[in-house]
Amino acid sequence: MFNVLFLSILLFQGNFCRTAVSTSVVYDSKALVIDGKRRILQSGSVHYPRSTPELWPEIIRKAKEGGLDVIETYVFWNYHEPVRGEYYFGGRFDLVRFVKEVHAAGLFVHLRIGPYACAEWNYGGFPMWLHFIPGIQFRTSNNLFKGEMERFLVKIVNLMKDENLFATQGGPIILAQVENEYGNVEGSYGVAGVLYVKWAAETAVGLNTTVPWVMCQQEDAPDPIINTCNGFYCDRWSPNSPFKPKMWTENYAGWFLSFGYAVPFRPVEDLAFAVARFFETGGTFQNYYMYFGGTNFGRTAGGPLIATSYDYDAPINEYGYINQPKWGHLRDLHIAVKKCEEHLVNANATQISLGQNLEAHVYYKSFNDCAAFLANYDSSSNATVNFRGRSYFLPAWSVSILPDCVNVIFNTAKVVSQVTLDDDSSIWDVTMPSSSWSWYKEKVGIWSNNSFEASGLLEQINTTKDSSDFLWYTTSINVDEKTVENQTKEVGLLIMSLGHAAFLFVNKKPVGFSYGNHDDASFTLTAKINLHSGNNTLDVLSMMIGLQNYGPWFDIQGAGLYSVILMDLEGSKADLSNMQWTYQVGLEGEFLELENVSMANSSVWIQGSAIPTNQSLLWYKTVFDAPEGNGPVALNLSGMGKGQAWINGQSIGRYWSSNLSPSNGCSENCDYRGTYNAGKCLKKCGQPAQTLYHIPRPWLNPGKNLLVIHEELGGDPSTISLVAQNRQRICNRVSETDLPPADTWESGEDFASRIPELRLTCETGWRIASIRFASFGTPEGNCGAVKQGTCHTDVSSIVHKACVGKSGCSIPVSGAELGDPCPNVAKTLAVEALCTA
Ligand code: GAL
Repeated sequence: MFNVLFLSILLFQGNFCRTAVSTSVVYDSKALVIDGKRRILQSGSVHYPRSTPELWPEIIRKAKEGGLDVIETYVFWNYHEPVRGEYYFGGRFDLVRFVKEVHAAGLFVHLRIGPYACAEWNYGGFPMWLHFIPGIQFRTSNNLFKGEMERFLVKIVNLMKDENLFATQGGPIILAQVENEYGNVEGSYGVAGVLYVKWAAETAVGLNTTVPWVMCQQEDAPDPIINTCNGFYCDRWSPNSPFKPKMWTENYAGWFLSFGYAVPFRPVEDLAFAVARFFETGGTFQNYYMYFGGTNFGRTAGGPLIATSYDYDAPINEYGYINQPKWGHLRDLHIAVKKCEEHLVNANATQISLGQNLEAHVYYKSFNDCAAFLANYDSSSNATVNFRGRSYFLPAWSVSILPDCVNVIFNTAKVVSQVTLDDDSSIWDVTMPSSSWSWYKEKVGIWSNNSFEASGLLEQINTTKDSSDFLWYTTSINVDEKTVENQTKEVGLLIMSLGHAAFLFVNKKPVGFSYGNHDDASFTLTAKINLHSGNNTLDVLSMMIGLQNYGPWFDIQGAGLYSVILMDLEGSKADLSNMQWTYQVGLEGEFLELENVSMANSSVWIQGSAIPTNQSLLWYKTVFDAPEGNGPVALNLSGMGKGQAWINGQSIGRYWSSNLSPSNGCSENCDYRGTYNAGKCLKKCGQPAQTLYHIPRPWLNPGKNLLVIHEELGGDPSTISLVAQNRQRICNRVSETDLPPADTWESGEDFASRIPELRLTCETGWRIASIRFASFGTPEGNCGAVKQGTCHTDVSSIVHKACVGKSGCSIPVSGAELGDPCPNVAKTLAVEALCTA
């Protein structure tokens, strides 16, 4: 009776209340040691402000199901302390709630306190006010900086301690990070940099978190701090002391997206290869950066020119949906690695050469009790190798995992996980938010009396303090009547800027626009302009698209105009740079807070049937109904230029549809074999980096919703549509010779006697509504374009019976089950299905 009561009390304690059992975390030469046990840990980055608290439990649940043990996040100082001494931990920035959600799911946390984050996050996570402390120098041995950094470290560590969130207190945090990749830039800071590393390490250790600290990409990380590796591959890397474990804190699941660039992706075969090689060669902790990337809402994106989507081709996509086959293939990999855990942590590997670019690493408990990884790291040749008297086929650039030194239960190049056809437009329901728009035309140039004058061109960030993306530089040019023949005079204007974009108006008319890019934000804007006699106004709107977040001294990298030259057609030059200029920070619409719900009924908005289109500096507003269902919602802004959008007053981020990526360099079917880099696999060449902008469901009201757009360059709001995903196309092809699912293997079993399975699973809560294609035989083409081959049996009814109406299904792939249309030919089962809510 007592036991039953006790159990029910535990069950009713709700989400956050896991019993507080203290967990000890130390490390040795091999691994993190948790409660006395060395562990192999799979970790994944999920940054809490890049989604909404409502979505956190679902993301964490999917991460756990995907085989993760740890969730890693940075801490974003600039949003936690927007004003010095004034803290914010609400909404998307509720760090304690996030850590507790991870705990509730039974996972560990790696807290990268930094406080420098990088992360394609505005200013790398540093608050802007920090820059204005006289005499401060960031990330070096500067007392002012060190004082502020220490204050924030203490703040976060105490916050976690007060909530009992460190493992030794019964919480989930097993690891903490100080700084971030400082080793990459340390050289630029000279001796002061070396001293800073030492100070940062001592300060962190002095905070007594009772869990180990790491410094990533930091070869000189002082003991007891663990230095860790970041990169696309870390198998050849080793820590700076034989007493430290080999850990990998950033394994890029894909890459980040910038406006004006094609969309990067990383084939899962290569990602799995990198992970398998890492564990094969003695690694014991690995973190996917990102496991869920999410969205850079508002002006949180770093820069320059980081896009709003931070999808990252991660296993969980921007909307919180599973990205297949990436998620599934990695899940299978994690299962296979886990089955080797006991061996991996208890022995050092014995390396055996199996031929050129072929090797095995064997982890022995005894001669007959071992686990092995067989690798073919040749980028083009497949091979058949001999290992312990058996022969094994190893596709190029792949690793096979044998938890018992006999059975291959996973090969990194053999994907049996389903594919989600997310890029297909048929999965989205499209509605126009509205045909009735109101608008407001922004004033060009100075719009208020809080403008000010200065001689010469001011650096932008020091002027705006990042309170806005925008700074107006205005002046006037007086043209002597005598010099103007025929009323107007055509001259050239040459404007040079440190970044990121500038829009030129002469006599209040738009005459030129130019911009830099993520790799080099500086640019030159040239325009031929017509001046009339008398006074001519020159207004330049200089725009920022995210503050720099990376590199040595990135915090003092400037932006804005630095040279303006007028060139007469006869060749004479007038340098306007040192003239008297008038400045205005921000735009009039921002000042009026037109994005706010409270301004929706203001009389400044103009209503009428003729909506102005393709004009610069316009605000648009409309009201729409929330789309039905509970799937992802996005705004399609492909018909717009550049700007920002708000839903019910919340910014869903910057958009820039008119900035197209270069038209070449893409390969949709990128070969996973060979060393990957961020430019290797790209899609969407010649297109905008992003056309769909995520609207989190919790930001929508059940009834009417307010949409406000600020269009800077020119667009047509009647092209804007709202898209909602209410369907999912899933597809899989598995052949008789493929491996059975890794999770079905049991120690002592002969895996080859098991039958492969074709598995299909819908998103949480969705069900298979119909089978669009089902063939057993020799179907042709990959998922998305699969069609019947010469040998074919129609297995629709078998598949239908097994799958329709269910959240997922599994079908054995064998002639005995499915019929045999062509004996002695290796056959494949291919199925495409539609899931609905
Ligand atoms: C790393 C950095 C991460 C992130 C990544 C690229 O250098 O540590 O925070 O910026 O690059 O996505």
